[in-house]
Amino acid sequence: MERQRSFSLKSTRLLVFSFTISSSLLFCFFFSFWLFTDPPSNFRETHLQFNQSSLSVFLTTKKAQTFTSFSGNFTINKGGNAILAHTHLRTSTNSSSGRSVVSDVEKVVRLKNESGAFVERKRVSEAKVTSLAGSPVRKSSNSSEKITLSAVKRKIKRKKSSQCDVFNGRWVFDESYPLYAYSSCPFIDEGFNCQANGRLDRDYLKWRWQPDDCDIPRFNALKMLELIRGKRLVFVGDSINRNQWESLLCLLRGAITDPKKVYETDGRRITKERGDYSFKFVDYHCTVEYYVTHFLVHESKARVGQKRVQTLRIDTIDKGSSKWKGADILVFNTAHWWSHHKTKAGLNYYQEGYQVHHRLDVSTAFRRALITWAAWVDRHIAPGKTRVFFRSSEPSHFRGGQWNSGGHCKESTGPLNSNQSINYPEKNIIVEQVLKQMKTPVVLLNITSLSELRIDGHPSIYGRKPGRINSSIQDCSHWCLPGVPDAWNELLYFYLLSKQKPFSAD
Ligand SMILES: *[C@@H]1O[C@H](CO)[C@@H](O)[C@H](O)[C@H]1NC(C)=O
Ligand SMILES: *[C@@H]1O[C@H](CO)[C@@H](O)[C@H](O)[C@H]1NC(C)=O
Ligand SMILES: *[C@@H]1O[C@H](CO)[C@@H](O)[C@H](O)[C@H]1NC(C)=O
Ligand SMILES: *[C@@H]1O[C@H](CO)[C@@H](O)[C@H](O)[C@H]1NC(C)=O
Ligand SMILES: *[C@@H]1O[C@H](CO)[C@@H](O)[C@H](O)[C@H]1NC(C)=O
Ligand SMILES: *[C@@H]1O[C@H](CO)[C@@H](O)[C@H](O)[C@H]1NC(C)=O
Ligand SMILES: *[C@@H]1O[C@H](CO)[C@@H](O)[C@H](O)[C@H]1NC(C)=O
Ligand SMILES: *[C@@H]1O[C@H](CO)[C@@H](O)[C@H](O)[C@H]1NC(C)=O
Repeated sequence: MERQRSFSLKSTRLLVFSFTISSSLLFCFFFSFWLFTDPPSNFRETHLQFNQSSLSVFLTTKKAQTFTSFSGNFTINKGGNAILAHTHLRTSTNSSSGRSVVSDVEKVVRLKNESGAFVERKRVSEAKVTSLAGSPVRKSSNSSEKITLSAVKRKIKRKKSSQCDVFNGRWVFDESYPLYAYSSCPFIDEGFNCQANGRLDRDYLKWRWQPDDCDIPRFNALKMLELIRGKRLVFVGDSINRNQWESLLCLLRGAITDPKKVYETDGRRITKERGDYSFKFVDYHCTVEYYVTHFLVHESKARVGQKRVQTLRIDTIDKGSSKWKGADILVFNTAHWWSHHKTKAGLNYYQEGYQVHHRLDVSTAFRRALITWAAWVDRHIAPGKTRVFFRSSEPSHFRGGQWNSGGHCKESTGPLNSNQSINYPEKNIIVEQVLKQMKTPVVLLNITSLSELRIDGHPSIYGRKPGRINSSIQDCSHWCLPGVPDAWNELLYFYLLSKQKPFSAD
């Protein structure tokens, strides 16, 4: 009883204290906001309003007590054994230029017991302090840049990651990366093993993806393994998905001390040529699998005139689909095979039923194939059991030519400047449209733009063993491991940790 009483008094004081701090910070912020946004040359009269009577805090615990201070309202009432802390903050500034800014901050914290409430409340006020302290300085570098309080709101909403677009952000140089060493991972195949193939620059390993509006957790292999305990995590797609799958194997391998406790169930070694692997993590009774398919739909043959030709059955799911069934987590992709070069320019290539289209454009064919895939997913996937992801296309960075005509990227050792405008590929727009029509919720791993910046992450000439390097052919399409696909997997991890946010275009 005594402990509890002193605790509630202490926590009340702390609350008052943190509130005073955040209010003064808020005031400082608005003051500096006003200072920075109005250039000294055209100083104008500005009215700053700070209505304290609308600052209020409610705190409910077992003890009945009333406490008023600082024009605020602190009430401690009888009310179950839950602590409810509710802060509501409303401030407004009104400058004679007509700019009027209003901020609304609401935070409700409900907790089961005192120690929990203490921690949680402290976190809330800390979040407020950092968010308010951080904004004006950073934003003031460009005086013509419009500052709205939505930026502040966004900052304050940090950590509310369920509403955060985690694909919108920037690369931050972080010495604590990469998340594993290439030499510690036996699953990287030659094509992605840049350091083993002689790549010497290291900066490309040290970039961490930082969303603008929230933080994502650092990849934790043990937690991830717990998340997939007893489950099948299956990657389905082209070699870029193999790239991401190998990255995940390496990330998870970091938590396994006995190398014998991870193995391919049929003893297969990873090579470019095969596309059918299931790695078992013995202690977690889970498998991390990869099944190759270039188009998600069936590559076939048909008679055209006298000849039997290769076709693509855009109305039929890939024959490997029986292996995808029953997975608990599915990560699909398809994109870069849908090119002029790889689809025979669409001439006598796409097939529906018995009909081989004499000519069909790639966008139409891509859309029809995705609809075939979507129908398969809706038919065979139980939304309650299986979580489905679709990874958006990844950009390649061939400069000065195509992959087979001298295109290169070797000279790049750092990310591109993020102010470059990026074209969102039409294929991704088609993917978004198809996903929207689906019954099954599918999360779009929208990694196109963030990867677009990482011209430095490709194997270039280091996709082959030193003796076999042919510097006239560069790989500016796959990714070194460790590297960019690790960030995709951190985002996958984020979604698996948080509640599923189904696909939504808005
Ligand atoms: C301050 O806010 C309260 C409640 O929102 C309102 O009744 C009062 O008129 C406001 N005072 C000023 C000066 O705006
Ligand atoms: C404090 O808040 C309580 C509950 O909302 C309200 O009933 C009371 O009138 C408020 N007191 C003051 C002084 O604002
Ligand atoms: C803001 O200032 C303008 C002009 O000074 C005034 O007309 C308007 O009523 C003010 N708005 C508020 C919310 O105080
Ligand atoms: C608070 O609750 C959590 C779980 O609800 C519990 O693990 C913890 O021991 C509790 N702490 C106290 C001090 O009651
Ligand atoms: C400031 O930002 C605007 C657009 O936001 C841009 O047009 C302008 O060039 C920038 N100025 C400086 C000095 O960076
Ligand atoms: C932004 O991009 C333009 C070209 O698109 C470039 O000239 C400029 O230097 C870039 N700005 C910064 C700050 O890097
Ligand atoms: C490297 O590739 C080019 C283009 O395919 C080829 O012409 C050349 O002979 C190759 N060089 C070596 C050393 O293999
Ligand atoms: C994916 O990202 C692109 C560019 O970053 C954006 O235009 C698009 O709306 C995003 N799609 C979704 C579904 O969030």
